[in-house]
Amino acid sequence: KVIVIDFGGQYNQLVARRVRECNVYCEIYSYRTDIEQIKAMNPKGIILTGGPNSCYEADSPTYTKELFELGIPVLGLCYGAQLMNHILGGKVEKAPVREYGKTEVFVDKSSPLFEGVATDSAEGSTICWMSHFDYISKPAPGFQVVAHTADCPVATDENPEKKLYAIQFHPEVLHTVEGSRMLHNFVRNICGCAGTWRMDSFVEHTIKEIREKVGDGKVLLALSGGVDSSVAAGLLSRAIGKQLTCVFVDHGLLRKNEGDEVEEVFGPNGQFDLNFIRVNAQERYYGKLAGVTEPEKKRKIIGEEFIRVFEEEAKKIGAVDFLAQGTIYPDVVESGLGGESAVIKSHHNVGGLPDYVDFKEIIEPLRNLFKDEVRKAGLELGIPEKLVFRQPFPGPGLGIRIIGEVTAEKVRIVQDADYIYREEVDAAVEEYRKEHGEAPEWMPNQYFAALTNMRSVGVMGDERTYDYAVALRAVNTVDFMTAEAANIPFEVLQKVMSRIINEVKGVNRCFYDITSKPPGTIEFE
Ligand code: XMP
Repeated sequence: KVIVIDFGGQYNQLVARRVRECNVYCEIYSYRTDIEQIKAMNPKGIILTGGPNSCYEADSPTYTKELFELGIPVLGLCYGAQLMNHILGGKVEKAPVREYGKTEVFVDKSSPLFEGVATDSAEGSTICWMSHFDYISKPAPGFQVVAHTADCPVATDENPEKKLYAIQFHPEVLHTVEGSRMLHNFVRNICGCAGTWRMDSFVEHTIKEIREKVGDGKVLLALSGGVDSSVAAGLLSRAIGKQLTCVFVDHGLLRKNEGDEVEEVFGPNGQFDLNFIRVNAQERYYGKLAGVTEPEKKRKIIGEEFIRVFEEEAKKIGAVDFLAQGTIYPDVVESGLGGESAVIKSHHNVGGLPDYVDFKEIIEPLRNLFKDEVRKAGLELGIPEKLVFRQPFPGPGLGIRIIGEVTAEKVRIVQDADYIYREEVDAAVEEYRKEHGEAPEWMPNQYFAALTNMRSVGVMGDERTYDYAVALRAVNTVDFMTAEAANIPFEVLQKVMSRIINEVKGVNRCFYDITSKPPGTIEFE
């Protein structure tokens, strides 16, 4: 494998991702990781990432010089490149010109790093992504310059005898047109990685690792039925079987049939060997939520009640050795700490766990995976596609999709309406796919029904009705931070409306929410 040493740069997760795209397994470690630990992992290559600091300043992140004397190929990127030159006797200082953005770089095609790069260009130029204010003004002794730009005399330098390479720009960013090729050259050709890593080897390797770590210990996992905790459960179950206990709390705010679907997969009649505990806490939650209308208060009650229910179950089980969590790589990054620290998924609704469950250590088998990789691992483990490709669903569930007070009756209404909506959208997408061979542009990344707190007058048959209005939401988004309402064809919406009003008792009106985010949010509360 390849080790990525993290100096706190913003593209670090991309570095890991590109390396894995070369079918080479890699892991990210903080620059604070001891060299003995790195050596013990016996990596085939090491990549130093970018970072926000200036390496010549006294308290900037650094690394021991010994790293460059191990005989293991090292590639420095941006800050990593500067640090390599700085430590090995070159000079780094503030650049006269700050480079930012797409930049033409001239490369020496004889460098092994640039094999197959800029083949169409007589001058040997290609486009790279630059983002730096310091630069290497003098390469370290033994290094030769193999790339430059108009403003940057050392865009890349190398010491091929020692297998040390320093790239000032960011090959991991897609704007560096041939960046993937450069990383491929490093990990496959220079480091000699075979490129045999696949998701199945991740699964196999992780199962082995879990076995070694857990021994005959006991593991407890809060299973939400979401993708991450499900894949974590699958992996742990394959590794340690009944040493794993999963507690699944059905808070009565799940989508229609969802509780039963989770039980089908992970329960006693499912395909996984584990102790499955389903807690049917519906009534308890409805009781706590009765009369509560304020959104933040609802969220808080749902979160706290989860902790209480889980705590009770954990007490019954007694002390465990490990508490497992489905933390994935973006959660770690979201906490702002890159590969630098062990953070517990902070925004997750099980955030407070460590305080009240009696356990010794946290185990997070998905900590280094991206969402799409988690999904691949899930399929590899045989978890049904329906679960693996589930759309995001908030921890407080339907509790925040029912505006105002939550009651069992309202939950039933929103569950049924949501089910119809998803069924019709899925069918329309499928039909489009069959006809055009690809998904429609309007295909939403998240879509659900919510229940407004509004009742209005309508007419059904010859009778006056006074019922609730359902709101339909569907958004196109990449990162869920900003979003646009999806342009679902009108006839699909009409069909949904007609089915909901006919099939769901208590509803006589349907709205389609066209609000963008911002100013709206995706959820209603
Ligand atoms: P908003 O409503 O903030 O939602 O635009 C953005 C994304 O986050 C999801 N979401 C949550 N997920 N716990 C979660 O695990 C929550 O409390 C929560 N609130 C919102 C939402 O579904 C959307 O995908």
